[in-house]
Amino acid sequence: AGLDAAGGQPAALPAAPPKAAAPLTVIYASESGNSEALAGTVAKLARKQGFKPKVVDFADLDIATLPKAGKLVAIAATWGEGEPPARAVRAYGELMGEGAPRLDGVEFAVLALGDTSYAEFCAIGKALDERFEALGGKRAAERADLDLDFEKPAADWIKGALKALAPAEQPDNVVAVDFARAGTGEEDDAEPSREPVVVEVVEHVNLNSSRSDKETIHLALAFEEGAPAYEPGDSLEIFPENDPQLVDEILNAAGLSGDEALRKALLAERDITTLSAATVERFVKATGHTQAQTLIDSGEAKAWIEGRHLIDLLETYPAKLTAEHLGTITRPLPPRAYSIASSRKEVGDEVHLAIAAVRYETHGRARSGVASVHVADRIRDGAKLRVRLKPNRHFRLPQDPATDIIMVGPGTGVAPFRAFVQERRAIEAPGRSWLFFGDRHFTHDFLYQLEWQDALEDGSLTKIDVAFSRDQPEKVYVQDRITQHAQELVSWLDGGAHLYVCGDAKNMAKDVRAAVVGAYQTVKNLSAADAETQVAALERGHRYQQDVY
Ligand code: 2AM
Repeated sequence: AGLDAAGGQPAALPAAPPKAAAPLTVIYASESGNSEALAGTVAKLARKQGFKPKVVDFADLDIATLPKAGKLVAIAATWGEGEPPARAVRAYGELMGEGAPRLDGVEFAVLALGDTSYAEFCAIGKALDERFEALGGKRAAERADLDLDFEKPAADWIKGALKALAPAEQPDNVVAVDFARAGTGEEDDAEPSREPVVVEVVEHVNLNSSRSDKETIHLALAFEEGAPAYEPGDSLEIFPENDPQLVDEILNAAGLSGDEALRKALLAERDITTLSAATVERFVKATGHTQAQTLIDSGEAKAWIEGRHLIDLLETYPAKLTAEHLGTITRPLPPRAYSIASSRKEVGDEVHLAIAAVRYETHGRARSGVASVHVADRIRDGAKLRVRLKPNRHFRLPQDPATDIIMVGPGTGVAPFRAFVQERRAIEAPGRSWLFFGDRHFTHDFLYQLEWQDALEDGSLTKIDVAFSRDQPEKVYVQDRITQHAQELVSWLDGGAHLYVCGDAKNMAKDVRAAVVGAYQTVKNLSAADAETQVAALERGHRYQQDVY
């Protein structure tokens, strides 16, 4: 008696009647997956604290359900020039529109993600935060606006927000949580590791001809300890190094040349290119530079930083800086994600990437993309790179290999489709595959041309349509090919095909979407609104997926 028969342990005291777990709705608007991962972290921690959380992608959000949410956490990324992530456009528009429901009685907290290297930092999170209040909701916790190095501040914010949202009778349920591990995926064995690993470059070739004005590097990376369990559609983050010449120019301008330790830190750890309003403010705070202060006070800073980098600031407003100053002025150097161009079923423990070197000129100075030019200019066979897997479960082949797929990927946007075709070849998928590819010139820029020809021959690719924009006087783009083949495209989609778009977010992805809407309109003789509804339905059914940047 008093002992429980099975384990011999003392019987537990009669449990207190279980408290009804407080429902919590976590909605997220995510493009690259960061907001989504954080929403998962919120849910996980909330559950441990006695909430009953529900996570909803904006893509699937029915805004009419929000008034009943009771408690609401919204995590929203801002994309490009102050836009919502593509999958969030519909629900975001509805929330901002006249049909939005009242949110009286709803307690909310908003976490905004953004990138200070773009104007309109965190605009979507800010707008949602104001909107929820305007609709009658009660702000339970102050919004945080986070830059690319969001992991630590996000963990802190989540902790505070859940505390603020906890019902009064609930705090004794709170358990200690290891925030250092939160959101890294480590706590969940089913997820692949998010720890960076060092890999060896085993292939480094320029996919463009030497006469092209573009340079696209095909990179094969070997994982000594076995490649992470990546799926076609996932991305790989590269931790780059800065241009050593730029590092020296910065050190010079700051009056710090010769400091070897600092030089090393700037090479690998700090973002020494991005110039945002916040950078200028931190610069003024650190140096007390009166002219730079005038730039801010005059309200002209925003226009001035356009197309300029940190080096322009340091050279225009010379100041003697310390290493600490540079540390506070700059942000950590963020990794850069590239869509994986290979399938493990074909390449084993390698990951392949296709990376276009970004080079341009602004304000009379040559500029280069940090990671892409690091790879193009300073990485060769045998070199080492630090990388980390970035899964993307919103860009996935159909579960059923018999389903047809349509892939639209101009430029390096074609990368994940090389992975798709490799995968479907390996599993002998019976579904048909149709690729739309575009680039500048047929003779110089037809990325992976021979491989597509092989794939056509072995049947892993059914059709390819190409648009070489600069081979004729007038521009021809992938969306023009879609329009030309509207009938067949709609017939594939009617038959259940999935459509994938990868590449430029700013123009291409929108133009392609418009072309698909147009295809429905002409082929089915629909109004523009009805055609739009058809495409929106494809999106909601996850049959129209985008991986855009
Ligand atoms: P362009 O540079 O000649 O204008 C890959 O970069 C290919 O995408 C190039 O052929 C490029 O053409 C093309 N491209 C540029 N803008 C585009 C758009 N809005 N839609 C589709 N393709 C585009």
